[in-house]
Amino acid sequence: MRTWTLRGTTTSYVVGVPDHGLWAQLVAWGPHPVEIVGTEHFVPRADVEPLEYAVRGVRYTAPVDLVVSGPDGSDELRPVFDEAATGEPRVVLPGTELQLVFRDGVRGARVELHYLVVGDVVERWVSVGNDGADELTLHRHDSAGFVVPVGNTIKYLWGEWNSEFQQASVTLPRGRFTIGSAQGITGHSYSPFLATDGPVAYGVQLAWSGSWEMSADVDTTGLLRIQAGRSSSSLGLRLGVGETWTSPKAVGACSAEGADGLARVFHEYERAISRGRTPHVLYNSWFATEFDIRAEHQLELARRAAGIGVETFVVDDGWFVGRSDDTGGLGDWEVDPAKFPDGLEGFIAQLRDLGLDFGLWIEPESVSPSSRLASEHPEWILRTAGREPVLIRNQLLLDLSRDDVREFIWSTLDRLLTTYDIKYLKWDANRPRLDSGDQRRDLDGLVVSNLYAILDRLRAQHPEVYVEGCAGGGARVDLGMASRVDTLWPSDNTAPLDRLRIQEGFRTGFAPHLMSSWVTDAVGTHDGRERSLDFRFHVAMAGVLGIGADLSRWTDEQLKTATRQIEQYKGFRELIADSKVYGLAAGMQYVGATRSVVFLSQTGDGNVRGTLPTRPRRVPLAGLDPAKNYRVGDDVHAGSYLLQVGVAFDGPADSQCLIVEALD
Ligand code: DGJ
Repeated sequence: MRTWTLRGTTTSYVVGVPDHGLWAQLVAWGPHPVEIVGTEHFVPRADVEPLEYAVRGVRYTAPVDLVVSGPDGSDELRPVFDEAATGEPRVVLPGTELQLVFRDGVRGARVELHYLVVGDVVERWVSVGNDGADELTLHRHDSAGFVVPVGNTIKYLWGEWNSEFQQASVTLPRGRFTIGSAQGITGHSYSPFLATDGPVAYGVQLAWSGSWEMSADVDTTGLLRIQAGRSSSSLGLRLGVGETWTSPKAVGACSAEGADGLARVFHEYERAISRGRTPHVLYNSWFATEFDIRAEHQLELARRAAGIGVETFVVDDGWFVGRSDDTGGLGDWEVDPAKFPDGLEGFIAQLRDLGLDFGLWIEPESVSPSSRLASEHPEWILRTAGREPVLIRNQLLLDLSRDDVREFIWSTLDRLLTTYDIKYLKWDANRPRLDSGDQRRDLDGLVVSNLYAILDRLRAQHPEVYVEGCAGGGARVDLGMASRVDTLWPSDNTAPLDRLRIQEGFRTGFAPHLMSSWVTDAVGTHDGRERSLDFRFHVAMAGVLGIGADLSRWTDEQLKTATRQIEQYKGFRELIADSKVYGLAAGMQYVGATRSVVFLSQTGDGNVRGTLPTRPRRVPLAGLDPAKNYRVGDDVHAGSYLLQVGVAFDGPADSQCLIVEALD
């Protein structure tokens, strides 16, 4: 067998191609080899081997990643290994792409497996080329199959609007577990993320913001394999003669520090694919005013926001003509003069006088049926021929598979960003894509590629604009977006205990710099217990801090607390965005080179504490050097003490933020 070792920072991923050349297989990942012993009966050998990419026609009875048919009606391919396009070096270093090329002589199909290591993450994708004489159809087209050497408890993230990123797990002695989205968008229901627990944890994510599917299969030998890819459509993907189709990336990660360490590997990867802009502390007026936008009132909020240290003021939904509620206006992106009598430029000038940058909300993929855009360009509305388009939240979608629609959205954004001094853009999307349109076209692929093309152009041509991705809360959080926006909005639920739970789930797959979080006045949707303002700040300071409360109702005392917290946050926000995050028994620790920020939170029924004799509560810290000394507030402790005994977390406060500083 020929093997290639992909070297990561602390782990390796070893792939081999047996001499017969019919497949590539996993040899080892992290510390664990993959070994199958014994003889197969009743099935081909390919159905029990740890295949890297399983093609129907090589593998038959076990799950496959690629199914391709031709005009003769058969759906089998038997591509044979031809070359490693990267040449012969058998140790592949980070940053070098490994390409294994297989060719099917009967169909003329070319299957290329691509690998690239970033940190401890293996990026994988495939290209399928049609070098034959007939059109081909791809009926299933995964990005990768990841064989997981150990573990059969699979962790996943599920949710719904206002309740995203809930953690759950399923143990599969044998059999199959599938999640996905049929919404044309990543979706609230599941994140494109599957992971295992255990001393060595493995995880897979898919970088795609359309419809997708991920499955975990434990075969009859007890071996887990995770498949990740774009959803198949009813008529399949057509691949014309001479064309090549390329899948989105699926990434696999491995950590010998368990599930918590796996999150850190993903975070590091997400930092590597992001541009790493330091976030401003923002104020967003959505929760305070919703559609009732009046410049004078917004400025009153802005004055208070500036007073507590906010740096960017964002006007959310409702600033444009025809938008007094959610039934109109989308598509007609003109500033409403009734709401901004001095024009948006006048409003922005007044914000600038307060020392604030300006940010704007937009939902460019959507259109209200009553808008001028809808009447001028009915052909731009996504619909299925002969049927009424499906209305959700009183809005329709533009058909972003069309290049003229892509250009319309781009020119709208470019016009707004060129006309006004906008430093922050919140890009929202408040409905799924349901109308199937013409299934002979790859609607999902075209829409998502056009979306990515606009986001890439936005970044290239307006690099000064910080972009927040949002989709009715957290319905578009995935690695495809993570590499194209600066931060993401995980949920519309900002109530303290609910939010903490959502953020804990978010953290398992997504880094702190991607977690936009606001302090609001919201009471819990699921857990209505109140928490202090400090607690709410600490929850939001664990990511990219924003304020979304009605500041005109805040007391002087609350404003003072806010000022103190925002100042403290500014002192460590770079560390939060660039740290190793550890989960603690009662909170989180963000570990930097010489400093840590620790947030401790009381999530139980606080009113019983202190009413009975009890022992002091201590929370052991993580990620420190046992041999070093650290200052925590006025105290100095050995690292070993902090790691084993921990810091005290008692008294009436429901939350604490501690700075732990290395002394030597
Ligand atoms: C959904 C978003 O998640 C909210 O933050 C807000 O922007 C509304 N849309 C506005 O319609």
